[in-house]
Amino acid sequence: MNLLPYLFSPIKIKSLELVNRVVMPPMGTNLGNPDGTVSEANLAYIMRRARGGAGLIITEISSVHPSGSAIGNELGSYDDRFIPGLKKIADAVHAAGAKVALQLHHAGRESLELLQQGKAVAPSPIPSLIFHLTPREITREEIQEIIAAFGAAARRGVEAGFDAVEVHGAHGYLLTQFLSSPSNKREDEYGGSLINRSRFIIEVLQEVRKAVGPDFPISLRLSVEECIKDGYTFEDIRPILPNLVKAGADMLHASLGTHGSPGGITSAPPEYPPGFNVWRANKLKEAVGLPVIAVGRFSDPSSANEVIARGEADLVAFGRQFLADPDFLIKAREGRPEDIRKCLACNQGCIERLILGEGKIRCALNPETGQEMIYPQGPATVRRKVWIVGGGPGGLTAAYEAARLGHQVTLFEKVEETGGQLRFASRSPFKDHYGKWVSWLTSQVKKMGVIVRTGVEVTESTISEGNPEVVILAIGGEQIKPNIPGIDLPCVCNAWQVLSGEVPPEKHAIVIGGGLIGMETADYLCQKGTQVTLVEVLKRSPVLKITSHGYMLHTRLKEAGCRLLFNTTLTKIEESSVTALIEGREQILSPVDQVVIAVGLKPHDGLKEFLQARKIRHFIIGDALEPRRILEANEEGARAAWNL
Ligand SMILES: Cc1cc2nc3c(=O)[nH]c(=O)nc-3n(C[C@H](O)[C@H](O)[C@H](O)COP(=O)(O)O)c2cc1C
Repeated sequence: MNLLPYLFSPIKIKSLELVNRVVMPPMGTNLGNPDGTVSEANLAYIMRRARGGAGLIITEISSVHPSGSAIGNELGSYDDRFIPGLKKIADAVHAAGAKVALQLHHAGRESLELLQQGKAVAPSPIPSLIFHLTPREITREEIQEIIAAFGAAARRGVEAGFDAVEVHGAHGYLLTQFLSSPSNKREDEYGGSLINRSRFIIEVLQEVRKAVGPDFPISLRLSVEECIKDGYTFEDIRPILPNLVKAGADMLHASLGTHGSPGGITSAPPEYPPGFNVWRANKLKEAVGLPVIAVGRFSDPSSANEVIARGEADLVAFGRQFLADPDFLIKAREGRPEDIRKCLACNQGCIERLILGEGKIRCALNPETGQEMIYPQGPATVRRKVWIVGGGPGGLTAAYEAARLGHQVTLFEKVEETGGQLRFASRSPFKDHYGKWVSWLTSQVKKMGVIVRTGVEVTESTISEGNPEVVILAIGGEQIKPNIPGIDLPCVCNAWQVLSGEVPPEKHAIVIGGGLIGMETADYLCQKGTQVTLVEVLKRSPVLKITSHGYMLHTRLKEAGCRLLFNTTLTKIEESSVTALIEGREQILSPVDQVVIAVGLKPHDGLKEFLQARKIRHFIIGDALEPRRILEANEEGARAAWNL
């Protein structure tokens, strides 16, 4: 029985015949070779996803011209030497039964490397919204060269065996830079009026059409709205939509925003509910009558099925969900949606890792992503008796991976519930899905045969008696208590006591520490109506506004009237006031009826010396090693399991 009949129905767009309406949208991975050719890691990554059953896979950005790479290892499509590698992608996706489109891209001014080298070009010399460096104005000759390059790259796509091409006209890259008046101040025929600003996209589409012939499908990815100050809206660009169709677009991919839009709306954070962007796809569909792809925060196939059923879009793209669980569609199809590992939209391992230059793609929840080449398939040659001490994210992920490889796993958690710190963190606004992920992972490991023993403290003697072959120590960290006079007063508590509900919110609170725990605790308190002042010793917030979660936190705290004091040290706590050195000047802050410590964590030490002294094979992972994020805890948990 077809459980999701609309999603799993075929569609034909020119010569492109898709078995269903699911699209994997383009996602840069940084897995390519430094010379722009396709690497084995690229192939392993895309094959893994193609096996997941999407009708259409769109490749990550491929640069149509050497002046247009956004990231160091961006794939190239600007030379015939790239064709053999691209062909391997097309063949691999076809072998899995899916169709594949090549995304054609030029970054314009949004390339840090090219900006730093003075080589980035754009319609006008206006600084990048992300990197704040100024590009060079592109000449009219260069415009023609790049239009021709799009055509040549499309021709290479056809030769490499792709089923379609997608022109990247979204996210603030070169095509958007021409379309958008804040970035296009040209006085020639490529600037000024909307018709002039759309000329570049139109000519690119015409050139691509010329290169691929009349029947070959061309998708155009657009940011339907720019979501920047003075950026265009759907209504602004509505008049040019018919021209885009006439120029060659067969399908529109309705994305939104630019990488410079506040809050990372292009890969939106959890504040935006699944499907929040569908209305823009629907507007496009109504305006042009072409098949349209909706995208934005989809993780549940049944909600995508409803979008198709209601006729709001023709196809639905699942981006980060394909990173979190490439098998999610198979699970939905088999009627076991409860097994789907849902994307948290945290962006730690994917888009923000790429934008912040932290390395190749990962997923905070799925340790296989980006590591397909080394991901052990199992079963392990020797089945070991493993004890995992600690049921936070790292411990649970270690349990999942160890059980998947066939080891005999017992996981111990000191308190009654698994989740570690996430038991508290998931109480702050828009984080409840972290708690759901913990429940999901706990039920998955149990299903896989892991014995989960909560409310059990592992001691030296239990280890001696139980005699595990290997111990994975995932005991997390403990809150640091700063040495401030008055720190032991009854009005002082720590972030976890507040978030857990053990200590109720008061009217006026001081939160000590402006890192993530402090900001999230302040967010929680503000939501409860507390008047919060947050003090942080650093001169600037360690929670970066460039990350979507950071932006959302800063915005909410500002809107709630939370006072953020940087370069500030608390020197004394009293019953109803605190003394602080604010930028070197002493001030008394009052009234204060609650002081919340959130200055960070230090690793728990328990059992480390014992395991070492007894020469019991062990791994120390996550916060027990060094307090960090879920991404690192999960990665270390997985690696420990892989190396058992
Ligand atoms: C790691 C990552 C890389 C991305 N790279 C591209 C890209 O190469 N081209 C593109 O058009 N969009 C890119 N995007 C945007 C996605 O295609 C998609 O529109 C976005 O993530 C929203 O969909 P989602 O909420 O389902 O993840 C990227 C997103 C992520 C997370």
